Amino acid sequence: MTKQLNKNIVVGISGGIAAYKSATLVRELIKAGAKVRVCMTNAATQFITPLTFQALSGNPVHTDLLDNRAEAAMGHIELARWAELIIIAPASADIMARLAHGIANDLLSTLCLASEASLHLAPAMNHIMWTNAATQANLQTLRQRDIKIHGPAIGEQACGETGAGRMLEPDAIVAKLVENQATLNKTLSLQGKHVLLTAGPTREAIDPVRYISNRSSGKMGYSIAIAARDLGAMVTIVSGPVTVPTPKNIDIIKVESAAEMHSATLAAAKSADIFIATAAVSDFSTKDIFSKKIKKTGEYLRLQLKQNADILSDVSHQFSHLFTVGFAAETHNVIKYARGKLKRKKLDLIVANPVGEGKGFDQDTNQLEIIWHDGQLSLPEKEKQTLAHELIAIIVKRYFQS
Ligand code: PMT
Repeated sequence: MTKQLNKNIVVGISGGIAAYKSATLVRELIKAGAKVRVCMTNAATQFITPLTFQALSGNPVHTDLLDNRAEAAMGHIELARWAELIIIAPASADIMARLAHGIANDLLSTLCLASEASLHLAPAMNHIMWTNAATQANLQTLRQRDIKIHGPAIGEQACGETGAGRMLEPDAIVAKLVENQATLNKTLSLQGKHVLLTAGPTREAIDPVRYISNRSSGKMGYSIAIAARDLGAMVTIVSGPVTVPTPKNIDIIKVESAAEMHSATLAAAKSADIFIATAAVSDFSTKDIFSKKIKKTGEYLRLQLKQNADILSDVSHQFSHLFTVGFAAETHNVIKYARGKLKRKKLDLIVANPVGEGKGFDQDTNQLEIIWHDGQLSLPEKEKQTLAHELIAIIVKRYFQS
């Protein structure tokens, strides 16, 4: 099977005899490329042990909302942020009712309420409970909120009766999730939109042969540009000096210094719809550039630096119609500092990444914390190309909602 579900998936298990089938579901999801964490209700643990799911998923199983141990490591908020998709299978009449009414009285229901991940349910219950007016009303509410319902199947039930209420088989649930993903990918489009990016480092000349720069390779920015192009956008990169290959069908404007990047970006911003600032722009440049190679004259050399204009901030303030995305490269207090930049630079969204100690700069992988004014989402460490596609999908959704 191809890795069609390369996602962070929380499998929620509520109380029902079909819980035993969820063991196969976890295995099938992992085979399909997913990273799986399991969250069980108390009732579910009466049908099958958490240990089974710990062994199958390779991760501790989450059961308690007020578990001090879990809160320190991965509490419901972290789990909610980690999840890109939540599938509750089996979904009992009880969990459906609680979700429909926004009741958060255990870990699973709280997690669903606290997460932006797409929510899928595979109902399983006695057929009379399924057709009960209360369950059907809850079902309608959930569907109206774009919660995806898979099944139930019709057939013989554990109680000996026959009717609609059997949980779909695990392979059928996985097929539904894959199908849903394919539809989502098709509806994501940037056709007719112009995406402008800055990428790579800048070089601030000291003399004819020396400069101040940083370790940015351009890998992150170029990967995002390619992901935007793949969704049909017209893409321009204002790029500092990099050695990454030049992608096809992307307009590259080559610059060296922060000042050159500033004027090229502001000119290109006039026709752009979305601006993504991934470049590691030098905050300072030399006040005077020496016209000749500096010779050694003593133990110390004094260089005077002046602050460069902030490209991102200038774009967001001068072109308020643009959807602006900043990056925040931080060694500590990553989220706090990123939130500050989101507000100060008047951005729609900021992408924070930890840097230093072999992270972020010039690496093939990265780890992103995506923050907007009323939400936040984590993308754990992955290849920059994979992250770029996931990030651009989030940017597109937020762009069309803005
Ligand atoms: O290129 P790679 O090797 O793949 O590495 C990727 C990366 C780590 C460089 C990238 O993911 C990243 O974090 N880019 C932003 C780096 C940075 O300069 O962050 P900052 O927190 O100092 O700046 C905040 C934002 O303001 C950034 O969007 C930056 O592009 C922008 N900025 C900063 C200064 C300035 N004068 N003009 C700007 O536009």
